[in-house]
Amino acid sequence: MPHLEISDLITVTDPLSGARLPVRRSDVVRRLDEAGDRRAARIVAGLPVGPDDVLDPLAVDRLMIAVHTELQRLSEELRTGERLVHLLDPLFETIREIAGRNGRFRLVDIGSGLGYLIRWLASTGALGSNVELIGVDLDATLVAEADRLARAEGLDCRFVHGNAFDLPEIATVYVSTGVLHHFRGPALAEFFEAQADSQALAFCHFDIAATRLAPLGAWMFHRARMRHPLGRHDGVVSARRAHSDETLLSAATVPGIRPLLYEPRGLSNPFSTTLRPIIGIRPYLEDPLRQALGRDSRRLVGAEHLTRGGRQRPGAASRSGAGSGAASGSGTAR
Ligand SMILES: C[S@@+](CC[C@H](N)C(=O)[O-])C[C@H]1O[C@@H](n2cnc3c(N)ncnc32)[C@H](O)[C@@H]1O
Repeated sequence: MPHLEISDLITVTDPLSGARLPVRRSDVVRRLDEAGDRRAARIVAGLPVGPDDVLDPLAVDRLMIAVHTELQRLSEELRTGERLVHLLDPLFETIREIAGRNGRFRLVDIGSGLGYLIRWLASTGALGSNVELIGVDLDATLVAEADRLARAEGLDCRFVHGNAFDLPEIATVYVSTGVLHHFRGPALAEFFEAQADSQALAFCHFDIAATRLAPLGAWMFHRARMRHPLGRHDGVVSARRAHSDETLLSAATVPGIRPLLYEPRGLSNPFSTTLRPIIGIRPYLEDPLRQALGRDSRRLVGAEHLTRGGRQRPGAASRSGAGSGAASGSGTAR
């Protein structure tokens, strides 16, 4: 049975025009029933509709903003900003070393939702004043709300309505949080290909690590911290939909990109190791990035570290010299 997120079903956007499309409540309830998800079907059956059975767009918008506001609180609690900067700071240092200290750079957050990450980066100045900060999202309502919040907070960043597969903004580095699991099948590789084909030097996409404990951890966090049943439901489903390491490394093995995972530390708490990135860098950046990361560079692992019988310890293969420098990406199960 497919795992379906309610938010994907109740907000539908025409990928070409970006226009919001009407959604019939009975169609969504039927799809969820067919997927065997009675609880989700009941949540949707309680949403308001007009006389034509089309979900009330204003009510859906209010709900999406409420759920994303709770998601922002969760991100604050999980210190998502700090976790990203832990990697983005050495990455931009590496880029500055190569492109020149006086250059202008741009970070684009794809699927930025309410823009928490971009607004946090703008308010802390964590990446320095020469990194322009932009959020892109398919949902025009979330983009407008992110923009309103940024203006109210007096922040130097902006938000743009756009599609991850037809990116409206060029970037030095693309990032995302909690978005990858929405892209299934060939769309996942297309997502990485679009960025590899652009002028970007790197991407860094954080999503839930597909561990056995992830759905349980997601249930605990969302139960404790989110009030709306839709947010709780989708939070757990997203953990079930998280892509495996093999899937991510395989999909990110695209021409001109060295794909790497950034593994959690050996002793980290498995319940709170929720977000973990797949990184893609231009191959010539790998060695300088490893230098900038110092000891933590052992946590950067490529497809060559995934063995048939299981996983090698992060760092074991890098100590033997495998995978540094060249865009090897060999051994992926494409
Ligand atoms: C789970 S939310 C994550 C939001 C935000 N990154 C966060 O961590 O709070 C996923 C976001 O991806 C956006 N999204 C889904 N498909 C997209 C696409 N094709 N292009 C751009 N944004 C997309 C959704 O509108 C939603 O805001």
